[in-house]
Amino acid sequence: MIKSVRPYQDEPLTYGKFPDGFAWGLATSSYQIEGAWNEDGKKESIWDRFVRVEGKIKGGDTGDIACDSYHRWEEDVALVKEIGATHYRFSISWPRILPEGIGAVNQLGVDYYNRLIDALLEAGIQPMATLYHWDFPQCLEDKGGWLNDDVPNGLKNTPQRVLQLSEIGNTVKVKLWITLNEPYIAALVGYEKGIFAPGIQDPGKSAYICGHNMLKAHAKAYRKYKQDFKGQEGKLGISFFTEAAFPASDSEDDVKATNRYMQFTLGWFAHPIFKDGNYPQIMIDQIGEKSKLQGFPQSRLPIFTREERKQLLGSSDFIGLNHYTSKVVSHAVGNHEVVSCAEDRDVKLDYDPTWPNSGSVWLRPVPPGMRMLLNWVKDEYGNLPVYITENGVSDTAGNLDDLHRIYYYKHFINNVLKAITLDGCKVEGYYAWSLMDSFEWTVGYSEKFGVCAVDFADKNRRRTMKSSARFLRRIFADNGFLKDGNPWYDVPDAKHYTGQR
Ligand code: GAL
Repeated sequence: MIKSVRPYQDEPLTYGKFPDGFAWGLATSSYQIEGAWNEDGKKESIWDRFVRVEGKIKGGDTGDIACDSYHRWEEDVALVKEIGATHYRFSISWPRILPEGIGAVNQLGVDYYNRLIDALLEAGIQPMATLYHWDFPQCLEDKGGWLNDDVPNGLKNTPQRVLQLSEIGNTVKVKLWITLNEPYIAALVGYEKGIFAPGIQDPGKSAYICGHNMLKAHAKAYRKYKQDFKGQEGKLGISFFTEAAFPASDSEDDVKATNRYMQFTLGWFAHPIFKDGNYPQIMIDQIGEKSKLQGFPQSRLPIFTREERKQLLGSSDFIGLNHYTSKVVSHAVGNHEVVSCAEDRDVKLDYDPTWPNSGSVWLRPVPPGMRMLLNWVKDEYGNLPVYITENGVSDTAGNLDDLHRIYYYKHFINNVLKAITLDGCKVEGYYAWSLMDSFEWTVGYSEKFGVCAVDFADKNRRRTMKSSARFLRRIFADNGFLKDGNPWYDVPDAKHYTGQR
């Protein structure tokens, strides 16, 4: 077990190579980069609607044009190639390929993804396609969205899309699939707090229903994929929001609270798939008890049928981890008079003041958290194949000499290497978030995560590599950290983001 490290000091780098065939990737998502929000038959997504609600997005920004990748995808492929990534993770906009949510395929939308996939393969880059990265069709939302588990809503649509794609021949070219991106955030921020689209504020209830239907949709998609594409070596998984959690003290209460927090975040979605087809017992117990005290006739956490549990268990070929930051956790009994997911967990969350900062309030870079998390996953779910499907850091200046980002990647990726070589974790790939600056949800274009800059004032959306892209290029080319190789190791660590160019 890795020791708690707060406050931490960076440990010396470990030198060595990643396993042969390790996937080095860059990641993006459709709404954040594509633009062309109403072109070529694409219909409205919940984000297209949400960004038009006054006051929801910083500066009134929208993804209407974004990085214009719908028209500039060739430039994206060229950049991925230039950085030397072996893999590229992108997502498929649901209302672009199925404008009515289900049913008729929009061939122009499908052609776009075919062109992108073909160009990637031609450049020697393996595509990893996410089926759902939050841009849900508005027409399905109008019928209840993820809260409605009836046809033709959420439940049936993920498998439906896999099927549709198969009919047009893409599925065999793409060997790596992600069904859902961070169902935890989609449920909690979209259906509990209403800060993300679709903007529903219904604490303690809707998020659990949304999450429940997402899990069922995921399992259906997996079973359908395995049935229709038997023998095609494709792998299908799911990407989770993850944090590493450090107990605030050595007390039993805080240590227990830390594990409880992990179960209520990662466990909520990973436990049903990788452990026993059901929610973590601690969630079932706590939400059940609190619901009773609150006078609900039954638990606010829905129940899976026996058949659903069977479908869920083992419904993933790998576990995808999106990882950015850590939390310090202490025990704190929630107020049961307040119905909310946050009160259900009985924890208080902090960060350590010694942790560096970034361009986002929620993101404190804690590199050893990466190793800690990978070990937690190994101990909890067994040594499954892991893909880190997102990892990265923001700033607001957007400077090209982004040394704070080099600090972040250097130490986070080195902790992945430690987890593999020293702890025996089975990590098979790593995707940096993100290929380029893009529409960062409610903060618009103000927080930048790209290793390439995008000039949003330029109608051509000119892309420029930052120093961090060159740093990654070297890591990717070396397939690791070679002692006498990478000139970037000598760049002094700039861990604190100063906000200055
Ligand atoms: C993830 C999300 C990405 C990206 C990133 C940085 O949660 O999947 O779309 O925005 O956070 O905030």
